Amino acid sequence: MRVAVTGGAGYIGSTLIRNLLAEGHSVASLDNQVKGDYSYLRNRDAKSLMLIEGDIRNADDLDSTLKGTDAVVHMAALSDLDVCNDDPEEAVSVNVYGTYKVLEAAERNGVQRVIFCSSAAIYGVPSKLPVRERYAPHPLNLYGVTKLAGEKLIDAYHMNCGLEFVNLRFGNVYGVGLYTSWGGVIPKFVALGLDGKSLTVYGDGEATRDFVHVEDISRAITLGLTKVGIRGETFNIGSETTTVNKIANLVSSEIEKVTGRRPEITHLPPRSGETKEFSYDTSKIEKTLGFKPKWRLRDGVRQIIEFRLKNQKR
Ligand SMILES: NC(=O)c1ccc[n+]([C@@H]2O[C@H](COP(=O)([O-])OP(=O)(O)OC[C@H]3O[C@@H](n4cnc5c(N)ncnc54)[C@H](O)[C@@H]3O)[C@@H](O)[C@H]2O)c1
Repeated sequence: MRVAVTGGAGYIGSTLIRNLLAEGHSVASLDNQVKGDYSYLRNRDAKSLMLIEGDIRNADDLDSTLKGTDAVVHMAALSDLDVCNDDPEEAVSVNVYGTYKVLEAAERNGVQRVIFCSSAAIYGVPSKLPVRERYAPHPLNLYGVTKLAGEKLIDAYHMNCGLEFVNLRFGNVYGVGLYTSWGGVIPKFVALGLDGKSLTVYGDGEATRDFVHVEDISRAITLGLTKVGIRGETFNIGSETTTVNKIANLVSSEIEKVTGRRPEITHLPPRSGETKEFSYDTSKIEKTLGFKPKWRLRDGVRQIIEFRLKNQKR
């Protein structure tokens, strides 16, 4: 299969591309590297990989990427909540207008399937837990609003032009990828703890989140790309629900096992725009795509600690 990936230089994108190439697919990636970094992909098989530096809002860049591809995984976005709040105009431009441009280009280039990388952030404060795909979205922050707008745009192209899509709503993604992001709560705790600093928890720490490993996300995307008969479907992708306090304690105790020193946990005032309680019902993706996460949180935390220690020593 020939797959286009927008945002292929990013955390999830580069991990997905590495895995797609390993499975024998060929890939064309489009990324302006505002955040990601192509250098992790440059040593890969050049025959099956095309790395394009460009913007998803540019029709020529998109046409060069999507031409001759069977499917596009659209994950280029301003993916950080704070970055979106700091520059709302750019957030709407990239995440909403950029998604519209990708859909237009998909249509123009006869791409058969679009995988949209959405987020648990679209749910905001859920009406009921665990959250199912059909529950009404109430995003609490601009990032979530832009992701929901992207979903609605894809739905419109599906209804009006018959564009085939699969919408994947990721939980909190963590774990060592090809290029590893240190922005999420787990890697942040690991970095703080190994640097001898205390782990800072916002609010009382009883907020719950669903954490899912980047390798499991990559597998779910591949299933979304290849499974027949799932056009126009939305799936939650999660793995383990836990509180931020439990994550802090887990990271702290795992760091103690390797360094002999247990990092302290301190609390800061809560941040606005964050959901208190969240958990995912993932039965739909299990039943429809046969997807079951392979990574357990404890193993994922150990993996990040080992990775950080190895890379600090270099
Ligand atoms: N990481 C998570 O926990 C998580 C959770 C839910 C959803 N998601 C979604 O998954 C996708 C990938 O997330 P990620 O963690 O890999 O993020 P990331 O920021 O590492 O990757 C996004 C990539 O998009 C690129 N990009 C940004 N603007 C662009 C533009 N205008 N043109 C071309 N490229 C552009 C960036 O350079 C970056 O490489 C995003 O759409 C994000 O919203 C991520």
